Amino acid sequence: MMALKSVFLSSLLPCAFALVRPNDVGRLPALGWNSWNAYHCDVSEDKILQAANFVVSLGLKDVGYEYINVDDCWSVKSGRNTTTQQIIPNATTFPDGISGTAEQVHALGLKIGIYSSAGTETCAGYPASIGYENVDAATFAAWGIDYLKYDNCNVPSNWTDTCVSCVSDYYTPALNQNGSCAGEPSLCPSGYNYSTSNTASRYRLMRDALLAQNRTILYSLCDWGQAYVESWGNATGNSWRMSDDISPPFERILAILNENSFQLNATDFWGHNDADMLEVGNGISAAQTRSHFALWAAMKSPLIIGTDLSGVSDADVAVLKNAYLLAFNQDAEVGAPATPYKWGVNPDYTFNASFPAEYWSGESSNGTLVLVGNWLNETMSKVANYSEIPGLQAGGAYQVVDVWAGSSLGCVQNGVQVNVEANDTAVYLIQEGCGSVIQKRRT
Ligand SMILES: *[C@@H]1O[C@H](CO)[C@@H](O)[C@H](O)[C@H]1NC(C)=O
Ligand SMILES: *[C@@H]1O[C@H](CO)[C@@H](O)[C@H](O)[C@H]1NC(C)=O
Ligand SMILES: *[C@@H]1O[C@H](CO)[C@@H](O)[C@H](O)[C@H]1NC(C)=O
Ligand SMILES: *[C@@H]1O[C@H](CO)[C@@H](O)[C@H](O)[C@H]1NC(C)=O
Ligand SMILES: *[C@@H]1O[C@H](CO)[C@@H](O)[C@H](O)[C@H]1NC(C)=O
Ligand SMILES: *[C@@H]1O[C@H](CO)[C@@H](O)[C@H](O)[C@H]1NC(C)=O
Ligand SMILES: *[C@@H]1O[C@H](CO)[C@@H](O)[C@H](O)[C@H]1NC(C)=O
Ligand SMILES: *[C@@H]1O[C@H](CO)[C@@H](O)[C@H](O)[C@H]1NC(C)=O
Ligand SMILES: *[C@@H]1O[C@H](CO)[C@@H](O)[C@H](O)[C@H]1NC(C)=O
Ligand SMILES: *[C@@H]1O[C@H](CO)[C@@H](O)[C@H](O)[C@H]1NC(C)=O
Ligand SMILES: *[C@@H]1O[C@H](CO)[C@@H](O)[C@H](O)[C@H]1NC(C)=O
Ligand SMILES: *[C@@H]1O[C@H](CO)[C@@H](O)[C@H](O)[C@H]1NC(C)=O
Repeated sequence: MMALKSVFLSSLLPCAFALVRPNDVGRLPALGWNSWNAYHCDVSEDKILQAANFVVSLGLKDVGYEYINVDDCWSVKSGRNTTTQQIIPNATTFPDGISGTAEQVHALGLKIGIYSSAGTETCAGYPASIGYENVDAATFAAWGIDYLKYDNCNVPSNWTDTCVSCVSDYYTPALNQNGSCAGEPSLCPSGYNYSTSNTASRYRLMRDALLAQNRTILYSLCDWGQAYVESWGNATGNSWRMSDDISPPFERILAILNENSFQLNATDFWGHNDADMLEVGNGISAAQTRSHFALWAAMKSPLIIGTDLSGVSDADVAVLKNAYLLAFNQDAEVGAPATPYKWGVNPDYTFNASFPAEYWSGESSNGTLVLVGNWLNETMSKVANYSEIPGLQAGGAYQVVDVWAGSSLGCVQNGVQVNVEANDTAVYLIQEGCGSVIQKRRT
């Protein structure tokens, strides 16, 4: 019966062109916590509620973190309820059911997310949603779910794509000198419309099922950047993963930064490239932590914490709560992310996983955010020169706030000189007040 209602309503919805949702849900990047990077398959109601309580007690809720997301492995692995076709929560690990966990998360003033895959099984082999989109969306809505992370594992053979996308398909620099993608025999022809891919169709089925529910569920696509999701993500979900999975080695974090730096035109209000969950707290150095968080915030990625909060250091919490970076990520008036204005080690627009762009800037309603990273393995003296930064006047003078120290450097002329240690990122907010104006790129 629920499934019938969903199908009926979805045909009436005029929402096919952009996922604009009630109450501004999905307008800005999501802020929250997810169980995967901390616990992988070893997830339970106890761990979810412990995380939710830490989000409150550490003050993360106060600065905007709101979604507490259950990742893979929450259900009975052997199959669905044969009567209702619903996925069954594991009664040992989730003794109150997902609805009971949701009630307790909501009682803390937070929202709750759940996980499934656009395939027959999740990545860990649990029942998933292809062919069951309507019953699952209705079930999630009935349980009080606010967010769905929708993965891309175990795609049935009749749903796979005949050709694949590649970064050099839609951006000038190529992975190979001759402009082709390495090791890909089945590249889609240039001009291919990726909205017509089976991947896009699989994700639209769940979109329509969610939109048919009488509950706003943020839709987070996790198709690993396949089928040029940047070209149809905004019409399909509130955010979309643009790369393979993140993992703690800083090399992997830089590789995702490099990939996303070429795809940031796809991010604006209501739809965001998701550079994957944060590895803050998971064994990366203090400098790497600053770089990772600052650049994820500046790219307007969703910021989803992925660590065991019972063991998180004060220094990491301070990074996660940086008021200037969160304000930039959550700016209600400017939707565009920061972008590179200079690459640094390599010539501009070089696609290189180890040496992504080092010099970034972005407009905000409170000034221009400037980031200067250092991907060499030694401390380097760097200059953020106003003459190179979009919107700033060459030779001008601006108020400069050091975003990590939270203190003003006063009026600084020409540019900001700084020694940046290996893998660290200096971040400044550049504001008017010293005579020079900031030229807005958009009105
Ligand atoms: C529920 O989860 C526990 C802990 O992971 C596991 O041992 C048990 O087999 C699961 N139960 C079912 C019915 O899948
Ligand atoms: C399946 O759903 C029916 C109807 O809601 C319910 O009575 C039954 O207990 C469920 N079975 C399982 C294994 O959850
Ligand atoms: C794959 O098969 C399923 C089940 O028969 C069907 O519902 C679905 O439409 C098929 N997918 C495509 C892309 O044809
Ligand atoms: C492009 O270069 C790659 C190796 O970098 C090679 O495998 C491929 O065959 C080349 N393609 C063309 C069309 O020359
Ligand atoms: C791509 O295909 C979609 C249908 O999925 C269509 O709405 C859109 O207009 C097409 N875009 C172009 C550029 O042809
Ligand atoms: C949707 O839910 C709200 C309360 O959550 C209720 O007031 C409203 O009647 C429902 N609408 C439909 C069409 O079921
Ligand atoms: C910086 O990160 C790279 C990986 O990208 C690593 O090899 C190097 O050891 C790191 N340097 C320091 C000083 O942490
Ligand atoms: C992004 O937009 C800018 C400004 O409109 C344009 O110059 C640039 O070519 C675009 N980049 C891509 C990858 O489309
Ligand atoms: C995505 O859609 C929203 C809503 O229509 C729009 O405001 C936004 O500019 C779109 N994003 C891009 C990158 O075009
Ligand atoms: C804007 O910048 C000023 C510092 O010049 C700071 O005091 C204020 O908190 C900032 N506001 C936001 C929303 O970041
Ligand atoms: C990436 O850039 C570095 C520094 O210029 C260079 O040494 C390295 O060979 C480049 N890597 C690739 C795969 O081109
Ligand atoms: C980077 O420097 C550190 C010492 O600061 C050293 O341990 C590490 O091996 C160096 N890594 C690379 C890739 O050179």
